[in-house]
Amino acid sequence: MVSTPVAAIANSGRQYLPPSSETTSPNQCLMPLTAKVNEQDHLEVGGCDVVTLVQRFGSPLYILDEQTLRTACRQYRDAFQQYYSGESLVIYASKAWNCLAVCAIVNSEGLGIDVVSGGELYTALQAGVPGETLYFHGNNKSRAELEMAIAANCTVVVDNWLELETLSQMAIAAAQPVRVMLRLTPGIECHTHEYIRTGHLDSKFGFDPDQMDAVFSFVKAQSGLDCVGLHAHIGSQIFELQAHQDLTGVMVQWLAKAAAYGLPVRELDIGGGLGIRYTEADEPPTIDRWVQVVCDGITAACQQHNLALPKLIAEPGRSLIGPACVTAYTIGSQKTVPGIRTYIAVDGGMSDNPRPITYQSVYRAVVANQMSAPATETVTVAGKHCESGDIVIKQAHLPPTQSGDVLVVLSTGAYNYSMASNYNRLPRPAAVLVNAGEANIILQRESNADLIRHDRLPERLAPGFERAIL
Ligand code: LLP
Repeated sequence: MVSTPVAAIANSGRQYLPPSSETTSPNQCLMPLTAKVNEQDHLEVGGCDVVTLVQRFGSPLYILDEQTLRTACRQYRDAFQQYYSGESLVIYASKAWNCLAVCAIVNSEGLGIDVVSGGELYTALQAGVPGETLYFHGNNKSRAELEMAIAANCTVVVDNWLELETLSQMAIAAAQPVRVMLRLTPGIECHTHEYIRTGHLDSKFGFDPDQMDAVFSFVKAQSGLDCVGLHAHIGSQIFELQAHQDLTGVMVQWLAKAAAYGLPVRELDIGGGLGIRYTEADEPPTIDRWVQVVCDGITAACQQHNLALPKLIAEPGRSLIGPACVTAYTIGSQKTVPGIRTYIAVDGGMSDNPRPITYQSVYRAVVANQMSAPATETVTVAGKHCESGDIVIKQAHLPPTQSGDVLVVLSTGAYNYSMASNYNRLPRPAAVLVNAGEANIILQRESNADLIRHDRLPERLAPGFERAIL
């Protein structure tokens, strides 16, 4: 089959498409790296015709391109090896998309995994990820979650005093030291949505800088805590390199302080946050450039403080998985409000992608079954939920469409499935992993029976039961 690269189509003036192959950094691409247009004029991802995938697996359908995910993992890993002379580890922030297959792929690329709940931890362990490569985050871990983390031999990223004290007691009771890192709020502002900023001082996460002296003294006195390092995360979908560069200097200062307290700190985790391109207007730096800035910053700051290079850890989520996935929907009803807009409704929406309604996120879409048709219309893509705000894309530039066409929303790998819900009792979509023409189900589509699996009907409400007449 002859396939035309997406960039060639984009430049030909036919359907308006992103020039995805001008860069090899997945976070700068609107389409997965393997995206092509085939002879049927259909979008192809991972060697699979998207229209055929929808016929086979139904819609909405998350389509995850294995090659794009693996490429992003390798770019992070290789860049750290290139720019940092100390030890390094990339850990995938699995809150972006946690499921067995994704954990297994990321683990097979030599990355660790950041988990934030017993559920994410359980999934990673079930996928065969070794506990030693897992980092457990969260601002309110339960005792049961901490027990799971200790039993699995994870590193626990301690967020607050209660957790510190609880862990210390648990370690003594178990007569086994617990490996911990301390999360602090670095006091760095960055330009991103208010809900996804975490590094500024008014954040629910981490210890305040003015608590750190007390924290270091406390930890030093606890024989059960092996304090291996420090952690900070300043936010998500960040395009400016300056914020992370500033963070490196701040964190090395804290590392020097912790070392001065006699703590055996040897790891520094600078969090994640590198942004991705959702539309042509987004201009994130490449993965390579981000890693270089971080590595140079840590190296220079360590030299300045005369400190040995710590094991440097980064925990990207969005920039690893976001660009690797697209969501395919089937177009249904349309409604034109004269002089105002045309709504095109798809068979999913805020339950499979809550980002537009939550953060006013903007996405791009293409019509997978007529890729070379010119995008002559500007329409509003609506979800099918009973809520006026359930809009997938407010202003989508598309060719004329009709019921049955396959609409593909781009860059949906991060925080879509992981934040999906059953609102309006919609079953959550299936996900397929595509690679070299093969498509494997990695998440089964939920059925109506799944929706009531945990419902319980008290006997007095069961059908046929005669109602008491008061
Ligand atoms: N590390 C920590 C401690 C985090 O809290 C996060 C994201 C990451 C790493 C990964 O950040 P990333 O590389 O993905 O930017 N639901 C929001 C994003 C919330 C991010 C939460 N923390 C969204 O859909 O935009």
